Amino acid sequence: MTQIVGIAGSLRHASFNLGLLRAAAEMMPDGTRLEVKSIAGIPLLNTDEEAQSGTPPAVDDLKRAIAAADGVILATPEYNNGIPGVFKNAIDWASRPATDIPRVFGGKPFAVIGASPGAFGTLLAQDAWLPVLRMLGVDLWSGERLVVSRAGQNFDDDGNLVDTEVRDRLQAYLAKFVVHVRSHTRER
Ligand SMILES: Cc1cc2nc3c(=O)[nH]c(=O)nc-3n(C[C@H](O)[C@H](O)[C@H](O)COP(=O)(O)O)c2cc1C
Repeated sequence: MTQIVGIAGSLRHASFNLGLLRAAAEMMPDGTRLEVKSIAGIPLLNTDEEAQSGTPPAVDDLKRAIAAADGVILATPEYNNGIPGVFKNAIDWASRPATDIPRVFGGKPFAVIGASPGAFGTLLAQDAWLPVLRMLGVDLWSGERLVVSRAGQNFDDDGNLVDTEVRDRLQAYLAKFVVHVRSHTRER
């Protein structure tokens, strides 16, 4: 079984990006499972508190999930043309302590997708992840892009992805990412 973890970078109940991952979980290729992880419960990173109390349980859980996965999908919202602070905070926490970065992130296939109500569908936020993911040493898959614009028209009020054209694009994207993840896993 190929295990993929999808991390939704929003705390909203009806988040488009969480909805994108919920839809993805229903359409994974055979022999593949997508576990959707939330960033809820991850506190603001303060390295003074880290020095006193260590890594919070929600961060340990996220790190465990990433480390155990064959591949990771970040579903990123876009705030002010960049990465939302809450999402960057969660991944910054997951990079602590820095000595764990190679074990948790090193060489791991990563993909970045996103949905927003605007015309550019998180294009800039997705690109803003590039230096972060390079720093963490992941294997960034850039074989395709999935940008979902005009999200208000493609999701219902509960954040469920209802547009068939976007669902088809998502399914095709996932199939290709999983091929990459499997070839990567075989090589190891
Ligand atoms: C502070 C803030 C800044 C935003 N900036 C952008 C932006 O630059 N580009 C964009 O497409 N949407 C922007 N939005 C709208 C978000 O895309 C929208 O709130 C979206 O629903 C967030 O993703 P989610 O549904 O997964 O929570 C912004 C929203 C907030 C709250």
